[in-house]
Amino acid sequence: MVKIIALNWKLNPGTRKEALALARLSDERNVMLFVPSVFLRDVAGSVKRAALGVQNIFWETHGAFTGEISASMAKSAGAAWTLVGHSERRKYFGETDEEVAKKIRAGIRAGLKIVLCVGEPWSVRKKGIASARSFVKNQLEKDLSDIKNFKLKIKNLVVAYEPVWAIGTGKSDAPEESAVMALFIKEILNAKCQTPNAKVLYGGSVNSKNIADFLNLKGIDGVLIGGASVKREELKRTLRHVS
Ligand code: PGA
Repeated sequence: MVKIIALNWKLNPGTRKEALALARLSDERNVMLFVPSVFLRDVAGSVKRAALGVQNIFWETHGAFTGEISASMAKSAGAAWTLVGHSERRKYFGETDEEVAKKIRAGIRAGLKIVLCVGEPWSVRKKGIASARSFVKNQLEKDLSDIKNFKLKIKNLVVAYEPVWAIGTGKSDAPEESAVMALFIKEILNAKCQTPNAKVLYGGSVNSKNIADFLNLKGIDGVLIGGASVKREELKRTLRHVS
């Protein structure tokens, strides 16, 4: 089975030149590249195999919203995908589930494909898997509520399960536990959005050493990688695992 390797550059790299060099290294089939939107056009002009996306969109299409980027702007600059609800957006920019739902709606309406990020903080996980499940279920129900309310048709939904405590910490989730969570997420998606083909990725401290442990599990359709995606040597080792 083909697995997805999604690369989230976050606020990296510092220059267009470095961005193009990283993009060339990452240009493989079944790779998704989430680049800073200012580099999107240049990266789009240089990659042939990887799918391209932005890390964030705004929910309105036009207007007096200084500094924001709409879904259709991202699309016309070369994005096919957008991340929505990354935990860093939720944490540093106060993004709420209601806003995440509006962004998903805006993305679908503009024809972007969505990677929705969900995951529980440590304060929840330390109470056990059952609490983590109910946290993630609640997040999914709220984040996907506009799909039902506005009767949106969604063909390409990917959910990235990213436990917040695992992001950027070097402490990934146990692969088997994340696979169980991935199956749980698929059940919810199936019941809620009738998307039997929805894919679920795992994200949080994935690197060249542990990537195979996640990709080898049947329930996990791929990985979302942050830190390791912008370190050249580590990226090369990681991409040896492309399907
Ligand atoms: P990380 O980030 O790989 O650096 O933990 C993952 C992510 O934020 O998507």
